[in-house]
Amino acid sequence: MTRTRTQVGIVGAGPAGLFLGHLLHLEGIDSVIIEDRSRDYVVERVRAGVLEQGTVDLMRETGLGERLDRDGMRHGGVYLAFQGRRHRIDFEALTGGRGITIYGQNEVVKDLIAARCRSGRPLFYSVEDVAVADFDGARPRIYFRFEGEEHEIACDFVAGCDGSHGVCRPSIPASALRIYERDYQFGWLGILAQAPPASDELVYALNESGFALFSMRSSTVTRLYLQCAPDEDLGSWSDDAIWAELEKRLGTADGWRPNRGPIAQRGVTGMRSVVVEPMRHGALFLAGDAAHIVPPTGAKGLNLAVSDVRTLSRALAMYYREGRTGMLDRYSDTCLRRVWRAQRFSWWMTSMLHRAPGSCEFDYRRQIAELEYLTSSRAAMTSLAENYVGMALE
Ligand code: FAD
Ligand code: PHB
Repeated sequence: MTRTRTQVGIVGAGPAGLFLGHLLHLEGIDSVIIEDRSRDYVVERVRAGVLEQGTVDLMRETGLGERLDRDGMRHGGVYLAFQGRRHRIDFEALTGGRGITIYGQNEVVKDLIAARCRSGRPLFYSVEDVAVADFDGARPRIYFRFEGEEHEIACDFVAGCDGSHGVCRPSIPASALRIYERDYQFGWLGILAQAPPASDELVYALNESGFALFSMRSSTVTRLYLQCAPDEDLGSWSDDAIWAELEKRLGTADGWRPNRGPIAQRGVTGMRSVVVEPMRHGALFLAGDAAHIVPPTGAKGLNLAVSDVRTLSRALAMYYREGRTGMLDRYSDTCLRRVWRAQRFSWWMTSMLHRAPGSCEFDYRRQIAELEYLTSSRAAMTSLAENYVGMALE
């Protein structure tokens, strides 16, 4: 058994865990990060694409701006498409100049891994049998196996950044947690296509057949999603069938449609809203998807993960610098305010833009009326815009 000590043990090397390690390093706080997948898997996984202004600002402030400034695509608005027409929501005009940046989650992860390597602090991939223990008291431990050898890390604090299927949250006694959950009876079929984006901004569309989303990753790669069943069989979709459905749902009367190209990657994602309260148990702090999941329609998941770990890193810095625990004690409440606001927005975007199984023509007409109101009222557009670009980080 190899025994080591650190200040903060971080479980999970997704955006939450890696960003936390980065922010702690800048505060002079030591951490060990462990991840049960391989480095290639973590980097290749295609997920989020939209960074809020606050996430972009934080990346720049903490020395992660170089590739982001070169390759990130700044967008000043999005389109909503329904009944054959596209309507632009002008974020910049409605929010005093704020916008979003398209930069793939895997690019964020690559930048964070490079920063971790520069810091010289430990990051273990492909670990096995991870367990967290004794976080009720002052001597929490993390156990795992790496290259056949057993490890024990003694820490002051454990950060559970291990996503929605991790071990940290289930290690907390169920009686100490309240879990709020909502299932949607649909999912997204997502593809990455080698095709230049046909629009300079995202298009969220509602059509009689359901939802579709046009997004992008670069000047040569388009990212597209289609509402489908949560357990949709990918094998039953030919490339042609996917493109035909995307064109039907996204295409507008002026002839606009996404450009076709070879499909490089495809996958199906289910949709859930989950909030775990509180986000702390003793010396174990949950952050990111380990504590909450939002349906992707609001593009909030990655941004919430970043906001959690920023709050946590500041609270830990306060503790190590001044011995004060006030911010750690407020961690859960501080994060949950933002989490619930993002949950509300993500639920609203999702409900407005999808056709739920079992919904009727009345519901569809009501959704269209809502979209018509939304795209014609400055007040309604402002509400969407300020939520989409994100609240300023606390
Ligand atoms: P994760 O990224 O899940 O990272 C957790 C890590 O912990 C993983 O690497 C996992 O392998 C590891 N792990 C798990 N168990 C263990 C264990 N026992 N031991 C060690 N390690 C473990 N969000 C946005 O903000 N904008 C978007 O546009 C957006 N679009 C999305 C589109 C799709 C299709 C999907 C699926 C998600 C999208 N999201 C979006 C959500 C976003 O991807 C997640 O919210 C984000 O990945 C959360 O980061 P995290 O670090 O908390 O969790
Ligand atoms: C993406 O580009 O992957 C993306 C964009 C907007 C969303 C979700 C995902 O709401």
